[in-house]
Amino acid sequence: MTHRPLIAPSILSADFARLGAEIDAVTGQGNERADWVHVDVMDAHFVPNLTLGLPVVESLQRVSEIPLDCHLMIENPDRWAPGYAEAGAANVTVHAEAAARPKMLARDLRAAGSKAGLSIKPDTPLDDWVDVLVEYDTLLVMSVEPGFGGQSFIPAVLDKVRTARRMVDTGHLQLLVEIDGGINADTIEQAAAAGVDCFVAGSAVYGAEDPAAAVGALRNTATAAGCSR
Ligand code: DX5
Ligand code: ZN
Repeated sequence: MTHRPLIAPSILSADFARLGAEIDAVTGQGNERADWVHVDVMDAHFVPNLTLGLPVVESLQRVSEIPLDCHLMIENPDRWAPGYAEAGAANVTVHAEAAARPKMLARDLRAAGSKAGLSIKPDTPLDDWVDVLVEYDTLLVMSVEPGFGGQSFIPAVLDKVRTARRMVDTGHLQLLVEIDGGINADTIEQAAAAGVDCFVAGSAVYGAEDPAAAVGALRNTATAAGCSR
C-alpha cells in the first residue's frame, strides 16, 4: 500500500476569531497542504461542549480552497446533517450512536452532494455497524471521547482500524478509514501502521509554530509507517 496519507487539520484548536486565516495557514503547496479541513460541530447535548454550526460552515465554505470535512457531534443528525452537505461540505460525518436511520441518512447526504461519513466513539464496537457502513464513504474512528481537543490517544481503538482496513482490502467495504483524537508526531505512526487513510489533527497542527510544516511532518511520518505495513 503506497497511498498518500490524507491530513485533516481540525480547526477546533485554531483561533476562532480568525478562522479564514487559520485555514489559509494550511493551504500551502505539496506535502504541507492539508487535504481536508476538519470542522467539529458540537451541540452541548451529544457532547458536553458547544462549538459552531451551519452559518459558520457556510461562511468557511465560501473562503476555503480546501474541502471541508464536517464532523457532527450532535443529536438528531437525521434532521440536521443534510444541510451541511447542501452547504458544500465534501464529507459530512454523523455519529452512529446518534443517528436514528443511518442508512437512509447516508443516502440523503450523498443525494445532497457530499460523501457520507459514520463515526464511532471509542467504546462503540465496529461489528454492530458493518451492515450500515455499506452505505457510507468514510468511517471515522474516534481515538478519544468526542468533545474536546488535546486529549490523549486511546491505542485500543486500533483493533477497529485493523478490522476495517481488512474489510476494505478484501473488498467487503469501500471506505476511507479516518481517525480523530490525540494524533500527533508520537501517535501517528501506530495509526498509519494499523491502516488509517486520513488523519485528523487539531492541537498537533494548530498548536505548532508552523501549522503547514506540522502537516508536512505528520504526512511524512504516516507515509513511512504506512509503507512498512
Ligand atoms: C474531538 C474532535 C477532534 C479534535 C481533535 O471531539 O472530534 O476533531 O479537534 O483534537 P486533537 O487532535 O487535539 O486531539
Ligand atoms: Zn473531530
